Amino acid sequence: MNFTHDIVIVGAGLAGLRAAVECVGHADVAVVSKVFPTRSHSGAAQGGITAALGNEEEDHWEWHLFDTIKGSDYLGDQDAIEVMVRDAPRVIYELEHMGVPFSRTPEGKIAQRNFGGHTRDFGKKSVKRACYAADRTGRVVLDTLYDQCLRHHVKFYSENYLLSLIFDGKRCSGVVTYDLATGELHLLQAKAILLATGGCGKIYKTTSNGFASTGDGINLAHQAGIPLEDMEFVQFHPTGLYPLGILVSEAARGEGGWLRNRLGHRFMEHYAPTVKDLAARDVVSRAILTEVREGRGIGGKDYVHLDLTHLGEEKIEKRLWEIASFARIYLGIDPVYDPIPVQPTCHYIMGGIPTDVDGRVLRDEKGSVASGLYAAGECACISVHGANRLGCNSLLDLLVFGRRSGLAIKRDLTQYEHRPISAEPMNWMDSRISDLLIHQGKDKAGFLRKQMQSVMMEYGSVFRNDEGLKKGIEEIRTLKDRYKDIGVINKKRSFNYELMEAIELGHQLELSEVILLSALHRRESRGAHYREDFPVRTDRYFLKHTLVFETPKGPEVRYKPVKITKFQPEARVY
Ligand code: FUM
Repeated sequence: MNFTHDIVIVGAGLAGLRAAVECVGHADVAVVSKVFPTRSHSGAAQGGITAALGNEEEDHWEWHLFDTIKGSDYLGDQDAIEVMVRDAPRVIYELEHMGVPFSRTPEGKIAQRNFGGHTRDFGKKSVKRACYAADRTGRVVLDTLYDQCLRHHVKFYSENYLLSLIFDGKRCSGVVTYDLATGELHLLQAKAILLATGGCGKIYKTTSNGFASTGDGINLAHQAGIPLEDMEFVQFHPTGLYPLGILVSEAARGEGGWLRNRLGHRFMEHYAPTVKDLAARDVVSRAILTEVREGRGIGGKDYVHLDLTHLGEEKIEKRLWEIASFARIYLGIDPVYDPIPVQPTCHYIMGGIPTDVDGRVLRDEKGSVASGLYAAGECACISVHGANRLGCNSLLDLLVFGRRSGLAIKRDLTQYEHRPISAEPMNWMDSRISDLLIHQGKDKAGFLRKQMQSVMMEYGSVFRNDEGLKKGIEEIRTLKDRYKDIGVINKKRSFNYELMEAIELGHQLELSEVILLSALHRRESRGAHYREDFPVRTDRYFLKHTLVFETPKGPEVRYKPVKITKFQPEARVY
């Protein structure tokens, strides 16, 4: 079926919903989501959202700016980071007014807690900057924004999977979706499209990401000629629940939890003597895997312990209830009495679709704008996280830049008009789907996906090197060849998750190659990208953003400069 709206937002996480709230009332807005909106991955965010409110102790946006730049290992664009951290307090009070039930201090102010890399006086001492709602911050913000969207009658196309972006010349003018319930394809025409489709953590075997995080929006933009920025920077969160990878919030260490190895030692004292368990995520992830490699994993296996037993039952129940319940439900372990088994888990992709601070998608290193196309949230790279994101800056990013994208779209809307749109892209997708359903195929998506996830864990995760990255690229290219001959067993159109997963796999394979290729070309270590063969950050050659373009001859790597305003790069001290 055909539908027409002024604005189509793809993705119903915090970035998409915040943009929708901004635009509704000024334009006809529709939100397309592959899952039911409140199942979007933003709901899995636990620990909090950063803002220098100073509710628990003195804090200033300038300190937040410094920490974010330093945390990014100086790859973040400082002008964009400044926009984000200055706006943070406003974001929190806006959420409070919308009805987000934040945890409170005894005096009734919004409570704040410690997270790694949040400091006072430009790195002197830790500061409580993360505003939180127990350990389900993302959940309560997502539910509140969804309520706001319902209140303002935003139109939702739930369980509609994005199949393609439609361009009218160089202007993005619509999308084709697969309606899971009916099996029909829809063509949604719009004056402006916002991609808020989230990350691609499901490329890896162990991940904290939800099933929907398969990078569809990122790859569709890439296939449409948009370069991808800084895709080598993939964050592994140190504490995923072993062996499932579900997030065990850094808040657990912020509240005083300790990591211990097989011998019971608090090994972070050795790797990061000053900040210990609250060192940067890449440092802690490498430390855990080094302990494992050297035989000090628990029972000789590939995990360590997160010990909360000294925190006491009251604190655990009040502030860390959700992670305690995960440990109880999935592992039968009660963290009040026993340590939690944890291992690094793929958590966040710092790179993505390049945008300016108003969500406008950028076509090249010169900053040419892709007309009608916007991106916000994890699928976008503004770049406010650079080589490594600080905990609790992601919810902030989603809300600041979700709103700014909405504002920009409202402003830009007068430039665009609805033009007649051909049904050809939808018909083309329809016949592609029919082919996929008819084709017998030698391989199945689930099997190839498992192999891809293992390749990415082996060669593209916490430790990387030249030989492994080349091998990884070769193996992913072989899987891409095999992907051309896949078939699906379920031949129905309605609720065909196997079909959707087969299409998702195509996107995941493309993005895997881009990640490995970007990592191969970056012959240094910076933030989350650690090269065993180039263990040092090399600003002289690599203080620049990677851009990977899709060309008829295959992927092409180019670079663009980092925007540095207030803080010159300093050496990294652990
Ligand atoms: O550990 C956490 O709660 C994660 C927070 C984040 O990635 O921002």
